[in-house]
Amino acid sequence: MRDNRTGREYEIPIGDGTIKAADLAQIKTSDDEPGLATYDPGFVNTASCKSAVTFIDGDKGILEYRGYPIEQLAEKSNFLEVAYLLIHGELPSKQQYDAWVHEITYHTFVHENVRTFMEGFRYDAHPMGMLMASVGALSTFYPESGNIADPDNRHMQIVRMIAKMPTLGAWAFRHAQGKPYIYPDNELGYTANFLSMLFKMSEQRFEADERLVKALDVLFILHADHEQNCSTNAVRSVGSSQVDPYSAVAAGVGALYGPLHGGANEAVLRMLRRIGSMENIPAFIEGVKAGNERLMGFGHRVYKNYDPRAKIIKKACDDVFEVTGVNPLLKIAQELEKIALEDEYFVKRKLYPNVDFYSGLIYEAFQFPPEMFTVLFAIGRTPGWLAQWLELVQDKEQKIARPKQIYTGARTLDFTPAAQRWA
Ligand code: CMC
Repeated sequence: MRDNRTGREYEIPIGDGTIKAADLAQIKTSDDEPGLATYDPGFVNTASCKSAVTFIDGDKGILEYRGYPIEQLAEKSNFLEVAYLLIHGELPSKQQYDAWVHEITYHTFVHENVRTFMEGFRYDAHPMGMLMASVGALSTFYPESGNIADPDNRHMQIVRMIAKMPTLGAWAFRHAQGKPYIYPDNELGYTANFLSMLFKMSEQRFEADERLVKALDVLFILHADHEQNCSTNAVRSVGSSQVDPYSAVAAGVGALYGPLHGGANEAVLRMLRRIGSMENIPAFIEGVKAGNERLMGFGHRVYKNYDPRAKIIKKACDDVFEVTGVNPLLKIAQELEKIALEDEYFVKRKLYPNVDFYSGLIYEAFQFPPEMFTVLFAIGRTPGWLAQWLELVQDKEQKIARPKQIYTGARTLDFTPAAQRWA
């Protein structure tokens, strides 16, 4: 590298297609100046870690967990097996799988005091706020979770968190509806139990339609990890202070709560409702092309091809609507997709449907209110957050996250006491 300011040349090693930002610090104009740094708001071109969890090739539309294509996992696996794969790095043997399912199933209950404080939320509390607070609060019930150097202890907290997220999410849902909280039914599988805690009323056992259980399980798999996205980065950043995993995951839930991250599927539904009927589609598309608004559920920072998750969700739509009846908005969505995929504006910009284009329609068919959509995303993403957290705490190259800044404020002002300034 040649520094045009001084004419000096430096050799900076390239590894894994990157340079180490710290190697730039030797590039200086004088000894008493700080060395060269990079400026990268939003980490658009900065790798913050090495990771073996999830691979994405956005141009080709490829998503793999631990090397396994998402399409195969969605079709042939189930959420708890995928969670095992993400956490442990490889698929379980029969014995390992049975032990894992047993562990998760028997940690679904939460301390009764969790219930008491959840009841204290306002009647209309947003379920994501309740989830964020209650996950964070679990650290007070398991103070030993701060001992993150102990592998057995880490494992225990991972099991607890994957097991308890559906309980907390379902209770947040019931709270807003003024319905009694339902305790876990450990005779049911992970996803069927979640549906029971959401929808059970006076029946002895809530038995959800198997096709709905499978569809929701697939949605959890599709959301289970997505490498260094905003919420995962939040988990890693907070986790880098060596805090307990409940606090780190609570930060991830907070990041996911934001409309630019977990909230797009809700925006898709609002958009489809506003379009209302097929004849309004051309005018809407013209408005998007004129720059008046965006076609929500289209485009992605990483995928410049069809989001592989969107393809799978489209298929899951058919299975769900077979049970619940077709959502009338589906026709509008399909027509929008057809037009957009042929239109020069979208083709040129490589704008394809993303994971959120169809997922809102499915969630609505389950009769979830829009504010629950992100809670479902959070439950699915929990194994991914934890796999990344586990990787972080074992990675010797990691340090506490502490970016640099470019200071733009005033310097060396003289302070005048208030009594003098206001006199
Ligand atoms: N509708 C119309 N035009 C679009 C859209 C869209 N949905 N997305 C991008 N563009 C245009 C944009 O106007 C720009 O055009 P030009 O070059 O003429 O200025 C070009 O495409 C590039 O857009 P960008 O904003 O620079 O792309 P980005 O990578 O920064 O943004 C995005 C990615 C997902 C924020 C964006 O595509 C978007 O806002 N999509 C709609 C919201 C959405 O569906 N979000 C869900 C993302 S998937 C969920 C997840 O994984 O967390």
